Parts: sequence; C-alpha cells; structure tokens
Amino acid sequence: METNTEPQLPYMPGLAGVPAAESKVCDIDGQKGILFYRGYPIEELAEKSTFEETSYMLLYGQLPTKEQLDGFTHELVHHRRLKYKLIDLMKTLPETGHPMDALAAAVGALGMFYPHINVMDAAQRHGACVRLIAKLPTIVAAFHRMRRGDRDVLPNDKLNHAANFLYMLNEQEPDPFHAKILDTCLVLHAEHSMNASTFSARVTGSSLADSYAVVASAVGTLSGPLHGGANEDVLDMLQEIGTVENVIPWLDKAQAAKRKIPGFGHREYKVKDPRAKILQRLAEQLFARYGSTPLYDIAVKLESVMEERVGSKGIYPNVDFYSGLVYQKLGIPMDLFTPVFAIARVSGWLAHWMEQLENNRIFRPSQVYVGAPPRSYTSIDRR
Ligand code: ACO
Repeated sequence: METNTEPQLPYMPGLAGVPAAESKVCDIDGQKGILFYRGYPIEELAEKSTFEETSYMLLYGQLPTKEQLDGFTHELVHHRRLKYKLIDLMKTLPETGHPMDALAAAVGALGMFYPHINVMDAAQRHGACVRLIAKLPTIVAAFHRMRRGDRDVLPNDKLNHAANFLYMLNEQEPDPFHAKILDTCLVLHAEHSMNASTFSARVTGSSLADSYAVVASAVGTLSGPLHGGANEDVLDMLQEIGTVENVIPWLDKAQAAKRKIPGFGHREYKVKDPRAKILQRLAEQLFARYGSTPLYDIAVKLESVMEERVGSKGIYPNVDFYSGLVYQKLGIPMDLFTPVFAIARVSGWLAHWMEQLENNRIFRPSQVYVGAPPRSYTSIDRR
C-alpha cells in the first residue's frame, strides 16, 4: 500500500481540467477558439512568421532579431544530415511499418550518437534542440525513400525547412507556393499547450532523460488515433464516405455504432479550432490554383451535418480535419501526415522540455487503488 503525504485530490479521468504545469509557452481559450504561442495570436503567426522563426520564439520566449534568426536558421541547415550508421539502422526497419514507428525508433537511436548530454547545461540543451528540429524531416524523408527503394537524397542547404522537406521527399525543388503552404502548416502545428504528446515529453523530461528520449516518447504518443494519428484517419473516412450523398447515411450508421468521428472534438475547444479555419483556407487556396477534390465537398458537408447534430455538445472540427486535404494536394503520402505533424510539433515539445527543466520536479501522480484487498499467496497446487 502506498503512503503519500500529499493531499489526495479527486480522480479525474484523462486528467481533464487538472493543471499539470505552469507554462508560458502557449495559451488557449477553448470557448472563444483563440490560440496564442507565447502571446502571439496564431492567425498572425500563420500569416507573417515562418517555421524557423516560430520555433526560435517557442524555444526562447520571444521573436528573434534578424541576427538571431539568421544564426538559428544556419544552425538548423548545418545539422540536417544523418550519420550513415543511423541510415543503415533505418534500412533494417520493415518497409511496411508505419513511418511514425520508424521515426520513434530513429529518434531513440539518435540519442546513442550524441550521448551523455548534460540536460542542465543551456548550451547543450540548445544543441540538442537544433539537432532534433533539423533532423526530423531528414529521418521522415529518408525512411519514405528507402521503403520505396529510392536512393537517399541529401538535404538542400539553399532551401528553407519546409521546402527542403518536400525536396528530400521528391528529389525535386518544390513549387514555392507549395513550400509556403507547408511552412504555414508547420507553424500551425508547432505547439498546443498540454496535449497528450507534450505531456509525455514533459513526463519523460522530468526524469532528466535526454532530449532524444523525450522526443521519442512524444512521437509515440502523437501516433495514436485520438491524437495526431487522426489526420490520416480523416482521409480514410472521407474516402470511405465516397460521395456527398452518402454523408448522411454514413453518419447515421457511424453515430448508431457510437463511432468517434475523426477530426472532430477536442478536450479544450468547444468551438471550431482556429487552426482548422486556417487550414481550410489553405486547402481552398490550393484548390483554387490546382483544382478541388471531391473529398473536400464531402468534408464540408460532413462539417455542416455534424454541426447540426452535435454542435450543441461543443464538437467541431479540430486541427486534423482539414490538414490531410492540404497535405494530399501537396503530394504528401497519407501515412506521412502524422510524421509531418511531428516535424512541426518537435519545437513545442522541446520548448516544454526546457521549461520543465527550469523548475523540475519528477512527475509521479498518485492513483486510486481499486484492486484486491491484502491476501496470502496460494501455492500453485492449491489454486
Ligand atoms: N465524434 C463523435 N462524438 C464525439 C467526438 C467525435 N469525434 N468527440 C467527442 N465526442 C463526444 C463523446 O462521445 C462524448 O459524448 P457523451 O458525453 O455523450 O459520452 C463527448 O463528446 C465528450 O467526448 P470525450 O471523448 O469524453 O472527450 P475527450 O476530451 O476525452 O476527447 C478527443 C477528446 C480524444 C479529441 C475526442 O474528441 C476524439 O476522440 N476525437 C476524434 C479523434 C480526433 O480527431 N483526435 C484528434 C484531436 S486533435 C489532436 O490531438 C491533434
């Protein structure tokens, strides 16, 4: 039986409404649908910032000067490449495996190449942050190419973070319009307060594990269908629905079966997620230029029927609802949607990791024991 001197608080399933940290990184007003990274509204960042600049701001609390941004960008470019041994290791992974699992494995292994980091040393922490932000896109693109039997593509130092990722996937410089849209998507996904993967990152960081273990555990948490994995499930669902006419019959059946509809609902937001609004506009910009997809009409119809049926319960589109439609138009394969989320969210995870270490206490919540009362061991011949 555990003895604990701390006061016993009521059990809250999923820790709903339980503050797990004091944080300066991100703030959400879920009733109004407002999101700020370090006080900056997401709409302004999506319009005016870049992923590199947003990452710096998340890590260090304020927008960088030109000199700081140039230095940070240079560091990111410099650290994009992977060690050959890591590439060899990734080649042993099954090609049919999910890229999120490959990412978790590769990030975990990355720590073996940069061991003994002193997590309390600011310069070493910075180095680890730069490496992780810089290398995640290279890992995702490399795994995608090797599973198809394509040759490795080295990062292109002339391209920014988003454009270089598209370049590494396709071995072709992307359309700047595509690169700009992806850059905005990365800004939109870079941070979101105490979500499940960020909580994982903070829990792992609280044991003073290194940043690679922190990010590997966060990647694992992000992969689930209730979290980042939903962006892939949304496209599966839209394809399964197939036609606008089938939205209502499909939803009737899904609701009768008490199915959760991917891309809808959020612990914090009780209105449409502000990121979903921006992603929908990005999708529309892409469709205006390159032609729409029938899946978009299905998505819009599904959103309107869901609003009629469950809007009063506060269930609206979340960030994952429109992102897949954008990524699909950018030519990104479906099973890379969640890895793209990770490429962006790594900046938020690391900002929280550093914040956790500033005032660390290991996470060790209590529990409510509901198991068997104390009893004696019965030998096997008497059971
Ligand atoms: N479809 C249908 N009903 C839903 C949905 C949904 N997507 N989401 C919530 N509800 C209903 C629940 O059935 C429940 O109804 P009830 O009170 O009548 O039982 C009520 O809304 C509350 O739902 P919970 O699951 O308790 O809410 P919780 O905060 O625990 O979960 C979550 C939030 C996991 C996001 C949930 O809404 C969900 O499963 N959504 C679908 C998966 C998804 O899109 N995940 C991505 C979220 S964004 C992100 O992580 C990046």
